[in-house]
Amino acid sequence: MIKILVIHGPNLQLLGRRKPSVYGRTTLQEINAQLKTQARKLKAQLTIEQFNHEGQMVDAIGKAEGHFDGILINPAAYTHTSVAVRDAIEAVDLPAVEVHLSNIHAREAFRHNSMVAPVAVGQICGFGPDSYLLGLSALCGFLKKKKGTK
Ligand code: DQA
Repeated sequence: MIKILVIHGPNLQLLGRRKPSVYGRTTLQEINAQLKTQARKLKAQLTIEQFNHEGQMVDAIGKAEGHFDGILINPAAYTHTSVAVRDAIEAVDLPAVEVHLSNIHAREAFRHNSMVAPVAVGQICGFGPDSYLLGLSALCGFLKKKKGTK
């Protein structure tokens, strides 16, 4: 079993009613249910957390080593601001895939830069809830390939 830590960043608990024109109507609970269904197919085990506080995200990433094989993360607003989240991902020896519901590159200029992208395996954005599902399958594929080469 591949063990994945899924981290949702700030304000994502409001999905469903938060700016539906940008983020759609799917709730976080529905996204998590879709992720769990896909995880079963990929033979992955998920631990899913949502944090509004930067330090809590940093703590969770820092504790992940030894317990998880990889991290699927939507850092939300901290994507654009957090050196601490970026450094935490860089510090733990775990591959991370960054996902966003919206296409951050097609939005306001302050969303174009991701602190996290340079320390992630890759970034998937713009596909709504499917960004998470694509990210999970990309991360599992990456981990399976990595295991095969060991
Ligand atoms: C987001 C994009 C971020 O710019 C924003 O701050 C979010 C959500 C997304 O999933 O599209 O909170 O990460």
